[in-house]
Amino acid sequence: MSCQASPAPSSCDFPGRAELVAAIDAAIALQEPEAIGAALAASLERLIRSGRLQPPAVVLEPATDHYARRLLYRSAEHGYVVIAMTWAPGQGTPIHDHDGMWGVEGVCHGRIEVIPQRVVAREHDGWRFQSGPVLCAGPGECACVFPPADHHVIRHAGGEGVAVSLHIYPHEMTACGVYLDAGDGLHRLQRRHLQLDAELA
Ligand SMILES: [Fe+2]
Repeated sequence: MSCQASPAPSSCDFPGRAELVAAIDAAIALQEPEAIGAALAASLERLIRSGRLQPPAVVLEPATDHYARRLLYRSAEHGYVVIAMTWAPGQGTPIHDHDGMWGVEGVCHGRIEVIPQRVVAREHDGWRFQSGPVLCAGPGECACVFPPADHHVIRHAGGEGVAVSLHIYPHEMTACGVYLDAGDGLHRLQRRHLQLDAELA
């Protein structure tokens, strides 16, 4: 299903969208980020594993030179967003943060790796990180990210075929911090503007 082929829709519908939106609405009513994350991760996992949540087929199309970010839903009432990210083999992120907001992510196709990064020191203008264990996630596996301990790397897990993950944030993330390897054991912080490859909401 391609939403772009629809006759001027006001939003992109897909199987499971209404149930997903209801689950997010219920979760954010809990107000506390940790409670929201736990409830939302459980709901997202249940929806994906049941097969009821089927994002539009366009999310299976990778971008050639970056991982693709497509907006699937934006809540007019609450402001939260659902982003589909598409990872081709070899694609991934640098170490990054989430601009101070919580996030819930779940894999709905293929496999990704998530590598937590613990801040061990800030020296001059650099950050020193210690990589955590590589967490390999497949369909239905969900995780939460809470600031300030939110630094991590996400990448395609290897092998053929794309991976697709869904990411839910309390509002649109238009920029975040990325931490680029300076080659001396330190990482330099840069503010990076985040773009969408498509707005299907
Ligand atoms: Fe992230």
